[in-house]
Amino acid sequence: MTRTVYVNGAYLPENEATVSIFDRGFLFADGVYEVTSVLDGKLIDFEGHAIRLARSLSELAMRSPIEKADLLEVHRELVRANRIEEGLIYLQITRGAASDRDFAYPSEDTPPTIVLFTQNKPGLADSPVAKVGIKVISIADQRWGRRDIKTVQLLYPSMGKMMAKAAGCDDAWMVEDGAVTEGTSNNAYIVKGGKIITRHLSNDILHGITRAAVLRFAREAQMEVEERAFTVAEAQGADEAFFTSASAFVMPVVELDGQAIGSGTPGPVATRLREIYLDESRKVAI
Ligand code: PDD
Repeated sequence: MTRTVYVNGAYLPENEATVSIFDRGFLFADGVYEVTSVLDGKLIDFEGHAIRLARSLSELAMRSPIEKADLLEVHRELVRANRIEEGLIYLQITRGAASDRDFAYPSEDTPPTIVLFTQNKPGLADSPVAKVGIKVISIADQRWGRRDIKTVQLLYPSMGKMMAKAAGCDDAWMVEDGAVTEGTSNNAYIVKGGKIITRHLSNDILHGITRAAVLRFAREAQMEVEERAFTVAEAQGADEAFFTSASAFVMPVVELDGQAIGSGTPGPVATRLREIYLDESRKVAI
């Protein structure tokens, strides 16, 4: 089936959708994005993603080409048109196409570019990987200093994934000044003595929408949460580790730099949080 995608106000077959070669997303990575998951044909955490999108745009003085209510409608129409039961919706907004390549932002009346497409992922919730956990390596965090803005500058995270693959692992956790910042496309956590530890919010990490929901559910379930930085050594000596993202929900991490974490299998806290997150999110999906 040919995917229906959305580009600048039009629903089109994917092979007919185009963007200018002068688009600043293409030339300067001058764009922001969101990834929203779909379960049971409904959107998970749409509100959180829409709020973070507005913030990313505002931090970059970029105009939004669409109102929130219309954005919701586009998401829903793409889910309908592509018959997505489980999967992801990718959204990207760039500063648009100026008439030439110029580092300075184009004039205010340059229309932003907006693109959305779906990714069909049957079995996303009932992931076999979540049952065995994943292996990560640590790498230096060489990204820019505004990681709180969800920009499309994803070259270093891509390189990180390739470094992980080359090491026979699934992902990389990035380290700066001796402490873990986050995963290439997820927020990182450890569990020690029943306490959930994850890095505090700042410009150093993306403020994960899944992170916010998971910490809320953890606190509601009377689990102890501490928001602070932790080291690779501390993670290796933890009882459990996991990461969160819109595409992986809560994913157990069982090995870091070749060393098993805890029993080397998904731990009870990560397993429970994954269940709670999926159950509670499904209840309020729209
Ligand atoms: N990535 N940290 C980084 C660097 C990320 O790229 C992501 C999300 C997260 C988790 O954020 P959220 O819970 O809002 O998905 C943390 C998406 C899924 C991606 O790039 O595909």
